[in-house]
Amino acid sequence: MNNILTIMGLCKTFGALKAVNDVTFDVYENEILGIIGPNGAGKTTLFNVIVGIYRPDGGDITFRGRSIKNLLPHNICRIGITKTSQIVHPFLTLTVKENILVANMFGQNLNKRESEKKADEIMEFLGLTDVMNMHSATISLLKRRKLELARALGTGAEVILMDENLAGLNPVELEEGMEIIRELKRRGKTLVIVEHIMKAIMGVCERTVVLNYGEKIAEGTPYEVCSDERVITAYLGKKICCQ
Ligand SMILES: Nc1ncnc2c1ncn2[C@@H]1O[C@H](COP(=O)(O)OP(=O)(O)OP(=O)(O)O)[C@@H](O)[C@H]1O
Ligand SMILES: [Mg+2]
Repeated sequence: MNNILTIMGLCKTFGALKAVNDVTFDVYENEILGIIGPNGAGKTTLFNVIVGIYRPDGGDITFRGRSIKNLLPHNICRIGITKTSQIVHPFLTLTVKENILVANMFGQNLNKRESEKKADEIMEFLGLTDVMNMHSATISLLKRRKLELARALGTGAEVILMDENLAGLNPVELEEGMEIIRELKRRGKTLVIVEHIMKAIMGVCERTVVLNYGEKIAEGTPYEVCSDERVITAYLGKKICCQ
C-alpha cells in the first residue's frame, strides 16, 4: 500500500484549546479511511488543517512525500486534495450546474465545453440532473449534500475528505450514499470519511482512526476499533454489533 497523505504530529490550537493534539496517521492510496469520535473531538478541524483553511501550530502534512502545510487552500485543491463541508457551502445565487462548472473551471482549468460535459456526468452519477437548473438555495438538504460532493468531484482532486456528507439521510438514501462512496473508490479516488453513522463506517471503511479531545486514541479496522475499550468509553457508549 502506498501512502498518499501523511499526517505527522499535527497540532491545531484555538487559544488554550488543543483541538488537534499531536495526531499522526497515514492515508493509503485508493483506500476508504474513516475518522470517528465524539462531538468536538477535532475531526472538522483536522480536515480544515489538511486542506489549508487553518495553518497547523505543529507537525506536518505531506502529500505524495511533499509537505503541504504552507500551501494555500486553492493550491492544495489543485494538487489533489479537497473536502466537502459539514455545513454545506454552495454558491447560493448560482444554479446547481453552475456550482459544478465553477469547480470544473477553476479546479481543473477545463474549458467551457469540457466543463459542461464533466458537470453533466457528475450530475448524472449523483442524481442531480433533475435540479440542475435550480438555484442551490432552493434545493433540499439531501440534494445540497450531493452538490457538496459534486463540487468536490468537479475539482478533479484524487483525495476527497467528506465531513458528515451522509448525515440526516433515511435508510434508503444512506445505502445509496454508501454505494456512491464505494463507486468513487472503484474509480480510483482516495476517500477520508468523517461520520457519526457507524453503519456507514462499518459498511464502507477499510480502516478507522478515532479521535477524542483532539488526540488519536485508536486506529485499525472498523471491527477492531469498535471492540477497543477506550473507543467504547469515549464514543460508542456500548459495544455495538460490528459484523
Ligand atoms: N474556529 C474555532 N475557534 C475556536 N474553537 C474552535 C473553532 N473551531 C472548532 N473549535 C473547537 O475545537 C474543538 C473541535 O471542534 P471540531 O468542530 O473540529 O469537532 P468535530 O469533531 O468536528 O465535532 P462534530 O462531531 O460536532 O462535528 C471544539 O471544542 C470546538 O468548539
Ligand atoms: Mg465536525
